[in-house]
Parts: sequence; structure tokens; C-alpha cells
Amino acid sequence: MENTYQTYSAEETRNLGKKLAQEIAPGALVCLAGDLGAGKTTFTQGFLEGMGAARPYVSPTFVIMKQYDLTPPTASGIERIYHADAYRVEAKDFETLGFAEWCADPQGVVLLEWPERIGEILPPGALTLSFRFISDTEREITVR
Ligand SMILES: Nc1ncnc2c1ncn2[C@@H]1O[C@H](COP(=O)(O)OP(=O)(O)O)[C@@H](O)[C@H]1O
Ligand SMILES: [Mg+2]
Repeated sequence: MENTYQTYSAEETRNLGKKLAQEIAPGALVCLAGDLGAGKTTFTQGFLEGMGAARPYVSPTFVIMKQYDLTPPTASGIERIYHADAYRVEAKDFETLGFAEWCADPQGVVLLEWPERIGEILPPGALTLSFRFISDTEREITVR
């Protein structure tokens, strides 16, 4: 199953993130693939807003992972969101930081930027969103 979306502003990409927030189940791993500036963090900000997570929503590029505890949890039972970014780390360092535990949290959802960097340790069954830069304002997002 594959779905492709076009967005024409950062706000439209955030809205797509909000939409996914209504549909995702606890325990999911969402891989956000695509180049720098393609919209992965923008999408995640919409997702976090849709989940009711407390601000600030920071890019995890430098902190590697930021955890958001949801109070209250979502109606579907999601209690935590792990927003992670593998851009600057090796797969083994990512494991040391607890990647497998985040993915195994039955009340958690993991959003992972740069899954390409740690392909060898990705668990099966992840949802993958691929972001493509089309023009200054247009992005194409494919969901698999
Ligand atoms: N349609 C769009 N969707 C997402 N971002 C867009 C769009 N049009 C312009 N932008 C801009 O592109 C940049 C995307 O950055 P970011 O979300 O940090 O990308 P990434 O996390 O993939 O590196 C932001 O500055 C955003 O305002
Ligand atoms: Mg980013």
C-alpha cells in the first residue's frame, strides 16, 4: 500500500503530520526519510501538536532524541513520543542510547529522522514516509 501527497507550504506539511497523529497506533515506528530540508522536522512538529505534546518542539539533530510525555495520554493509549535523529550517529551508538527500547515501548511512538543511517538495526514493520524536495515550497511525501 502506497500513498503520495504534495504539500505547498510548511503549514500543509504540519497538517499532514497532524492527520497521521490521529491514525497512528501505540507501539509504532515511523521512519522519516529524505534529504536535509525536505520537511521531516516540520512534519514532526505537526504530529506533536496533533498529539497534544508540550512545546517546545526542537529538532533532535543535536540532542539525538527528545522524548515527549503526553499528559493525558491519547484516547488510543499513546503515552510517549520519541523523536529521534540518526544523522550524526552510528548504528551501534544509537543502540547504546536505547533505540531498541524506544521501539519496544508498547505505549510509545517513535519518529525517526534519517533511518537510512541505521538501516541494519531497523526492526521490521516500520511505516516509512519519504520526503522529496520538489521546489522551494513544494514537497512530495510518499507513505509506505
Ligand atoms: N511544503 C513544505 N513542506 C515542508 N517544509 C517546507 C515546505 N515548503 C517550504 N518548507 C521549508 O523547508 C524547511 C524544511 O525543514 P525541516 O522540516 O527542518 O527539514 P528536515 O527535517 O527534513 O531537514 C523549513 O524551513 C520549511 O519552512
Ligand atoms: Mg530534521
